[in-house]
Amino acid sequence: MSQTIAVVGGTGPQGKGLGYRFARGGYDVVVGSRSAERAVPVAEEIAARLEGVEGAGSVTGAANPEACGQADLVLVAVPWDGHDDLVAGLPLDGKLVVSCVNPLAFDKRGAHGAIVNGGEGSAAESAQALAPGATVVGAFHNVSAVLLWEDEALDEDVLVVGDEAEAKQQVMELARTVTGRRGIDAGKLRLARQLEPLTAVLISINRKYKTHSGIRISGLDTHQAD
Ligand SMILES: NC(=O)c1ccc[n+]([C@@H]2O[C@H](COP(=O)([O-])OP(=O)(O)OC[C@H]3O[C@@H](n4cnc5c(N)ncnc54)[C@H](OP(=O)(O)O)[C@@H]3O)[C@@H](O)[C@H]2O)c1
Repeated sequence: MSQTIAVVGGTGPQGKGLGYRFARGGYDVVVGSRSAERAVPVAEEIAARLEGVEGAGSVTGAANPEACGQADLVLVAVPWDGHDDLVAGLPLDGKLVVSCVNPLAFDKRGAHGAIVNGGEGSAAESAQALAPGATVVGAFHNVSAVLLWEDEALDEDVLVVGDEAEAKQQVMELARTVTGRRGIDAGKLRLARQLEPLTAVLISINRKYKTHSGIRISGLDTHQAD
């Protein structure tokens, strides 16, 4: 039986792109939204792109709590503003929760990391504190939504942080649907404090070079990352 993944905030570009990649990789995906009416057409759009793709999973839409109820793994892909209120209301007990949420702020000098919990926290750690019955892993913070919606394997690495080894392994495997390679074990969950604001650097690079940059780690043998 294939694994079902709920994408909370799946109507936005990041959730939609990751949902598309996960379903293309064979996972069943439930696109979540604060309104089921917004989720269903996005699910249909993803499913239409997957028509004729051998081995693709199903894609359906539902309100966020119902989507979580149907899933083994929940991806949280919502903006930092409103994140805590939303996560606190979701049925996440016993679920593997993946956070790709980047708390960022923008001013006239560009993007920068927002201060979370006085500098002693991250979105992923907030999710873990709000959902103690779940296991939270941080991943997919640094992959561009624009590239996710395209078909090519991405020439970049997915850095995965978490405190539970088995959950982290599952998410490292899930990363194959995005890059064609296993994700990289980047350490404990608290290192989300470094991964999340790193996206501000990529946004700055994107603006300068008019590209969609990502992270590639050197110094690992192919077999370590594959
Ligand atoms: N865009 C990227 O390239 C990218 C790359 C890496 C990581 N990320 C991270 O991924 C997350 C999602 O990014 P995105 O660009 O897809 O964001 P987005 O379009 O701004 O939001 C995604 C979805 O979240 C829901 N949402 C919006 N405001 C909310 C609130 N206050 N409370 C609850 N739900 C709300 C909306 O869905 P409904 O209205 O349907 O509920 C929306 O479609 C962010 O944390 C971002 O930092 C994004």
